[in-house]
Amino acid sequence: MTITKQKVKETIYQPLEKGEPVICLQDVAVAYQANVAIFDINLDVYPGECLGIVGPNASGKTTLLKTILGALKPIQGSVQIFGDKFSPKTSHMIRSKISYIPQLQAIDRNFPALVEDVVAMGRYSKAGLFRPLNSEDWEKIYEALEAVGMKKLAKRPIGHLSGGQQQKVMIARALANEPEILLLDEPTTALDFKMVRSVVDLVKKLHEERELTIVIVSHDIKLLREYCTRIAAMDKKIVWKGDPHDPDLDIIIEEIFLR
Ligand SMILES: Nc1ncnc2c1ncn2[C@@H]1O[C@H](COP(=O)(O)OP(=O)(O)OP(=O)(O)O)[C@@H](O)[C@H]1O
Ligand SMILES: [Mg+2]
Repeated sequence: MTITKQKVKETIYQPLEKGEPVICLQDVAVAYQANVAIFDINLDVYPGECLGIVGPNASGKTTLLKTILGALKPIQGSVQIFGDKFSPKTSHMIRSKISYIPQLQAIDRNFPALVEDVVAMGRYSKAGLFRPLNSEDWEKIYEALEAVGMKKLAKRPIGHLSGGQQQKVMIARALANEPEILLLDEPTTALDFKMVRSVVDLVKKLHEERELTIVIVSHDIKLLREYCTRIAAMDKKIVWKGDPHDPDLDIIIEEIFLR
């Protein structure tokens, strides 16, 4: 059975808590020069949600995250974060509440920074670039390292760590900012089974214990279903959103990945 675009069903999400969405995108389109990468994006994300974005390569997942972060400006529509639009006045305040963990990039073995320095970089958006970090900042940095189980490697050069360990350090860097929204782009790509489990368990824990609002991108629907409270399927636009365990999602996944 296939579902045509006309039949695509959208489950209306009932937020657990009342209140305003922390992320609100209305009719958003984003283009790279003449190429429209995403369009017709309507998305509300509520506090404490863990939203999974699934879609094939080039379906616009990273573009969507960068738009939420304010790094890409839509050619159409509006983006509101905590009720504010990005402007010279609000950008800094909005970004200080969002942490973004980009798709895994290989770090040069000789990159001249220790693990603790990399995590400290995450603290500057809270502290401000021109103020030296104080003891409270370093406490937060070490708390973040502890949360991802990397405290004992704090004095190692970042380039000497495995890909999975580096990924955890990037999560610690994001946490050091004490964000209200965490955006994760394919956090488990290139990791082995054990590392995938440990990164997934960590994201689950962060979501449950800190009530962070999380938007996480992955091709791995099985993984997303395990811990997301809602899933959006993307193919340049959001073709479906709803309950992770809705059987319609299987049909949609088949459709967009085999198209
Ligand atoms: N900096 C860029 N300049 C021009 N085109 C870009 C740029 N970044 C992305 N694109 C194009 O935008 C479209 C969406 O890319 P995007 O990276 O958002 O997809 P994705 O779903 O994250 O893919 P993947 O699963 O491979 O990470 C693609 O066609 C891509 O070629
Ligand atoms: Mg991507």
